[in-house]
Amino acid sequence: MTDPRQQLVQTFGPSAAETWVVSAPGRVNLIGEHIDYHGLPVLPIAIRRRIRVAFRARTDRRIRAVSTAQYGPREFEWTPRLAPTAAGDWENYLRAAAEAVGRKWGAGAGVDAAVVSDLPPAAGLSSSSALIVAFTLALLQANRRRASFEELMEILPEGEHFVGTRGGGMDHAASLASREGCASLIEFEPLALRPIPVPEDWRFLAAHSLQTAEKSGAARDEYNARRAAGTAALKRLGFASYRIVIEEPNSAEKLPPGLERDSFLHVTSEALRVRAAVKAMELGDAGAFGRLLLESHASLRDRLRLSSPALDHLVQAAMQSGALGARLTGGGLGGCAVVFCKQPDLAAVRRGLIARYYAGHPDFDPGRHLIDAQPGPGALHRQEHE
Ligand code: GLA
Repeated sequence: MTDPRQQLVQTFGPSAAETWVVSAPGRVNLIGEHIDYHGLPVLPIAIRRRIRVAFRARTDRRIRAVSTAQYGPREFEWTPRLAPTAAGDWENYLRAAAEAVGRKWGAGAGVDAAVVSDLPPAAGLSSSSALIVAFTLALLQANRRRASFEELMEILPEGEHFVGTRGGGMDHAASLASREGCASLIEFEPLALRPIPVPEDWRFLAAHSLQTAEKSGAARDEYNARRAAGTAALKRLGFASYRIVIEEPNSAEKLPPGLERDSFLHVTSEALRVRAAVKAMELGDAGAFGRLLLESHASLRDRLRLSSPALDHLVQAAMQSGALGARLTGGGLGGCAVVFCKQPDLAAVRRGLIARYYAGHPDFDPGRHLIDAQPGPGALHRQEHE
């Protein structure tokens, strides 16, 4: 990865002001899909691919940032109330961070910043959340403000709303507070993150289906429809939260058939799978963990209808190649599958996936589409030495 400090100097010139570097990783969700926004625990890992921001504080309120050629230089004034700029423009992520910080603490000193990344965009690895997390940390640091995990979680999922893609809080929590070598059991009511050590010989791959789920388009509507159906089911049954209802497994019978009932069944069963997956991980029971991933995929496919022929094929190809489990990860309808195997089988699983799934796709790029997803530290637990 290029050094963002070099790019900072190249773009904005040398300066006597102190230069800092912050970074935030992407994530792969191992299990617990489409339940974070219902306040239920999820189990992602932060991966060792990240967005890094080198920056210097300014004495005025201008925010200037540069990234790679594809994401050219941007500049705006940090005012107390910011509005989004043109849809799809990367400046919106910078604005989202400034708006989130500004709403809680007021607008402050601006920054000159350079952003570099080895986290592929639009690959289902939460690069946009990582960018907002990293830029938020940069703005806070430039203003010598310390924020706790809880405070950051108050502003970050809301901040994403600003770019029109509000999900639950999983992506930000994983990017902020994951621990090296551990999966993160994230609870939302109340907020807590419990690191679960991943057994040494377990391996994960993030395998892209080569179909992108456009976050701002139709996939967004589908996402929101699942969220609304799950909430409507809960309301119809007269429960205040899913935390209560998962102890009442027979409630689904009271719901009319359709997306509401199916969503309810997905959410409640997925919550139980997360519990079981944590147990399997703690016991080092790879077989059980793999089966839970497959069950999660089946539920997302059959109940939430968020898989796609490509994702189903990818999961099948992974299993035929020697994986112990695989499932679509993230929002669905495109994007990635997470593939799980033991270390001695990793090379064969990779080769098998390339032969069975990626062969004949000229766009396939292993560095972007088939990446090792080993658990790394979150932004709050990583020191930038460079
Ligand atoms: C997206 C959202 C997450 C989560 C997943 C589905 O990735 O950003 O918060 O809701 O979808 O599990």
